[in-house]
Amino acid sequence: MRNEEASAFGIGVSHRPCFWSIMAKLNLMVLLLFAMNFSSCLNNRVAEFALTKKEEGDLNEQSKKELVEEEEEELDADDLEVFYPTNQWQTIRPGQAIPAGLHVQLNLQTGEKLAKLPDDDDERKDIKDPKKSRRLGHIDVDPSSFTTQELKKALAKMKKSLNTDDTLEEKAHKEDVKRKFRPIEKLKEEFRELNLQLETDFEIMFKLINKLNSSASTLEEKITALYDLEYYVHQVDNARDLLSLGGLQLLINGLNSTEPLMKEYASFVLGAALSSNPRVQVAAIEGGVLQKLLVILATDQAQTVKKKALFALSSMLRHFPYAQQQFLKLGGLQVLKNLCTEKGMELLHIRIVTLLYDLMVEKLLVKDLHNDSTQIHERAQQYSQVNLVPAIVEQGWCKIISNFLKTPEHDIREKVLKTVHVLLAFCKDSYKEDQNLSHTLSLLRQEYELLAAEEQKEGDEDGYFKELLSSINSIAQQLK
Ligand SMILES: *[C@@H]1O[C@H](CO)[C@@H](O)[C@H](O)[C@H]1NC(C)=O
Ligand SMILES: *[C@@H]1O[C@H](CO)[C@@H](O)[C@H](O)[C@H]1NC(C)=O
Ligand SMILES: *[C@@H]1O[C@H](CO)[C@@H](O)[C@H](O)[C@H]1NC(C)=O
Ligand SMILES: *[C@@H]1O[C@H](CO)[C@@H](O)[C@H](O)[C@H]1NC(C)=O
Repeated sequence: MRNEEASAFGIGVSHRPCFWSIMAKLNLMVLLLFAMNFSSCLNNRVAEFALTKKEEGDLNEQSKKELVEEEEEELDADDLEVFYPTNQWQTIRPGQAIPAGLHVQLNLQTGEKLAKLPDDDDERKDIKDPKKSRRLGHIDVDPSSFTTQELKKALAKMKKSLNTDDTLEEKAHKEDVKRKFRPIEKLKEEFRELNLQLETDFEIMFKLINKLNSSASTLEEKITALYDLEYYVHQVDNARDLLSLGGLQLLINGLNSTEPLMKEYASFVLGAALSSNPRVQVAAIEGGVLQKLLVILATDQAQTVKKKALFALSSMLRHFPYAQQQFLKLGGLQVLKNLCTEKGMELLHIRIVTLLYDLMVEKLLVKDLHNDSTQIHERAQQYSQVNLVPAIVEQGWCKIISNFLKTPEHDIREKVLKTVHVLLAFCKDSYKEDQNLSHTLSLLRQEYELLAAEEQKEGDEDGYFKELLSSINSIAQQLK
């Protein structure tokens, strides 16, 4: 459904650059800078660099399709291998998903992608300094400068020139390149000058927000603006600019628009901006986002709309005990419970279980922290006021959650088993007398005994199914 709508709006081929394709482009750009004569590259491309947006005509059908697939993956990439950030710059491996809110850099000398948590220092800095966005190596480099086709062509050329059976002509060309090759400092300097012609993220976001606010914009244009905006707000600095530009209020207004697409995409952008970003979380809860999201989830809306609203709700609640407390006060848990029985919302079940699991674990982890700093102490204090588990038990979630074990999907079962594990201590009474649960567990045990045996036959000693089996056995054991 969302795809159809998206392609009806041409969103699938939006100018919005996917994170990894930028990374790939940046990476390739670095290679190109080394492999090609920089100044001729500069001369040929300066006009293109100055343009932020590429025309759709630049993409052939194949690369359009690839872009759409990339976007899809990005949107639903709940289960990618995750990069665990620290305060130090760390290399991001290809294929690793990086959490939102990190500072990302490209090492121009090695082409490595690096990310780290923002420093407290950075937090306090005024981020509106446009020079910062232009900083060399920062990811704000215009991602649209190369089209997919250009990149492929360039790559093909490079591969060719790296080939050992070079023709004389190619050898001559290589020599030429070598001769004109500039030292890195020189390259950086030119790169910096080049960068000044690019629009900063701030400028792009300013335009998108104006587009969104303009009464002259069509719905289609507004949705496209939201879709593009979502890309930018993943970065902490940009998400803060969203606040200073007044974009948050526009998103909040979008949540109770009469247009379902507007609700959906406003939620989508909010979810990205809220993710791991305390400042946005605070501004959003003050702006009434929590209530509005719950209204969307509690009323008659398409699953696509509720899915994004649930995404935004999850980003709002994670690591924000105050919001969790308000969520409980506003009856949010009941709203989620109703979603678990509402027809047509099956896709949301696993997301709801995941959210509850994460919130429970989050609180448990805070409890386990050493109580040696006032900051941690305060945090523990805040969490102590989130009475999530008692509410979960009281509302009958124990059975709702264990009933999800009947799904045929292994990965959903895995998540549910983990959640049941956490709940065991609190739901023991309910689980002990639950014939359904013990029946389901014994069926699952049979199934996974077979699968684990096959797995082992294939040489996998510590396989996935074996793990699921031991999880089931452990639950059954504790319920005896
Ligand atoms: C949106 O437009 C109105 C006037 O049309 C203006 O008052 C408001 O400041 C604008 N908001 C943003 C965020 O640009
Ligand atoms: C959205 O809700 C707010 C209050 O909750 C209300 O003031 C505003 O008029 C609503 N907007 C629309 C478009 O319904
Ligand atoms: C943490 O230490 C403070 C005293 O510094 C104490 O009052 C509080 O109960 C402790 N909290 C936990 C969770 O241990
Ligand atoms: C067992 O499951 C069935 C259907 O899934 C349900 O109707 C019944 O109420 C459940 N029994 C218990 C004790 O939960």
